[in-house]
Amino acid sequence: MGQLNLNKVQKFYGTFEVLKSIELEVRNGEFVVFVGPSGCGKSTLLRMIAGLDETSSGDIVIDGKRVNDLPPVKRGIAMVFQSYALYPHMTVFENIAFPLRVEKMPEDKLKAKVENAARILHLDQRLQQKPGLLSGGQRQRVAIGRAIVREPKIFLFDEPLSNLDAALRADMRIELAKLHKQLKATMIYVTHDQVEAMTMADRIVVLNAGEISQTGAPLELYHKPANMFVAGFIGNPRMNMLPVTCKAVSDAGVEIEFKGQPATIPVNGRADLVGQPLTLGIRPEHIQFGEADLSMNLTPSVIERLGAQTVAYASLDGESENFCAMLPGSAPIRTDETVPIGIGAADCHLFDASGIALERRVALTDINVGLLKIAGG
Ligand SMILES: Nc1ncnc2c1ncn2[C@@H]1O[C@H](COP(=O)(O)OP(=O)(O)OP(=O)(O)O)[C@@H](O)[C@H]1O
Ligand SMILES: [Mg+2]
Repeated sequence: MGQLNLNKVQKFYGTFEVLKSIELEVRNGEFVVFVGPSGCGKSTLLRMIAGLDETSSGDIVIDGKRVNDLPPVKRGIAMVFQSYALYPHMTVFENIAFPLRVEKMPEDKLKAKVENAARILHLDQRLQQKPGLLSGGQRQRVAIGRAIVREPKIFLFDEPLSNLDAALRADMRIELAKLHKQLKATMIYVTHDQVEAMTMADRIVVLNAGEISQTGAPLELYHKPANMFVAGFIGNPRMNMLPVTCKAVSDAGVEIEFKGQPATIPVNGRADLVGQPLTLGIRPEHIQFGEADLSMNLTPSVIERLGAQTVAYASLDGESENFCAMLPGSAPIRTDETVPIGIGAADCHLFDASGIALERRVALTDINVGLLKIAGG
């Protein structure tokens, strides 16, 4: 088992409240990813779960047992860091075996465990080498091997792949996803990489300044961000945010006026919004050529051709200089040449004056894929 509950968990450094009453349940076997801006408290939370940092108040509960007062080795947790922290003078075998040596495990049992971990991680041919001869990806696998042999209930990963180059990171991402499937262990993973978060997570926890901003399956956060922070954080390039006014609220949704054009956005509104300023959210990838429910003129100032896509940073009808549009790779656009573009009302997001999303009426049939994966074991 490996169920984790965080109940009103708080952390102070002096008078600075780094984590503010965190409430979170991580189910047995779940792959949960923490994301958030630098300094929001991701590593601190992971270290508190591991027992490496003290918890100021609240309970950390593993499989129903409060572990706040247990030392790290007694928590059934293994943590893998960005820096591999391998012993350079020891072989790969001894590096992986290290925690078992500390436990004084009998040699035959220890050997079987190390060899099994090495097989899972494709390190069987490397066991007698020293870490200095290995690539970054192989070294990180040794560090993961050292976590695996401990057979923890919960694995904690703090940006384990961020030292690797892009190709190796993609390979390791797939290896880790396979490892999760194979071990069926609970994993909590911190990353700055959107692709890692979106592809590996059953659920993503978005942290902002020490608080959970939203928790949900990756596509749920993408399609139904709860607020402007999550909307801006999930999705790359970032969602465009434009000021609009609420004209009316009806069964069909919220009628807005944007640059003199009326449009009804299919979201749940409230009568008190009429006449109020709202923020319209448009994802760059939802922009289309030509007219649509909302139409505008795009004048690119910078164009990035990525091959499959073209990203344009542009002004819209002569305003909002940093509007971003993601268009097909072959999009016939040039800098300083104005083209008509549009966006479908159903693709739009709306936020009230306090930045809270008005709920979109999108059918999210495939959203729970990540969670179903767990339910099915
Ligand atoms: N030992 C410490 N003493 C005082 N403040 C600390 C200590 N460790 C971390 N902090 C502060 O706590 C906050 C959260 O730090 P933390 O390392 O958890 O952020 P993070 O989300 O992991 O950031 P990053 O993405 O850059 O790794 C930061 O403001 C940091 O300066
Ligand atoms: Mg960190």
